[in-house]
Amino acid sequence: MEFLTLLVNRAHPLPADFVPDGLMEPDIPFDAPAGHEKRLLAAPAARAASELFCSARQQCLCLCGISGYRSYTRQEEIYRKRLAETSESYVNLYVARPGTSEHQTGLALDVSCPAVCCQLTESFADTPEGKWLAKNAPLYGFILRYPKGKEEITGYAWEPWHIRYVTRSLALYLALTGLTLEEYVQLHTGEEICLEKLPV
Ligand code: DAL
Ligand code: ZN
Repeated sequence: MEFLTLLVNRAHPLPADFVPDGLMEPDIPFDAPAGHEKRLLAAPAARAASELFCSARQQCLCLCGISGYRSYTRQEEIYRKRLAETSESYVNLYVARPGTSEHQTGLALDVSCPAVCCQLTESFADTPEGKWLAKNAPLYGFILRYPKGKEEITGYAWEPWHIRYVTRSLALYLALTGLTLEEYVQLHTGEEICLEKLPV
């Protein structure tokens, strides 16, 4: 499967040493220190994010980038840190195990806005920025990757802040059909969706 539409999840991990080519910083405001790797995205996603954020600004909406690219090692650190804070079943609803995060592809971006103090919270979905993002992200090639009601299929809780670049044509197709990336891959390859059951 092509890199830009690659399915990455618990059943489709990346090699630990996978680093996307041509990581670059999109032209968007970030709530992250200058020079941090989380400000990077793979080039096509970076260009699309710059256009998406520019369009939001033109509507007087203030989107803020929180976290883009994550190396395998950093995902490992984040996963371990969250495990130390809370139960494994809860962590597994929100944090991918190292090697299974879309953030390692450089095609995923967590987004928030000042109205929710740039936090990654479900209430982002109720802000004008969150509503605009949900409607307009596909026009720029992004999908809301972990929708409400599809938790059993994606393997993760609803994350209205996590967008994933999949190309404009696929994003529009998924938006129109309501399919997740897992369902799309299953339909087009015949491959069974084989995620472990969500932890209870
Ligand atoms: N929050 C998503 C699932 C990740 O950690 O990649
Ligand atoms: Zn994310």
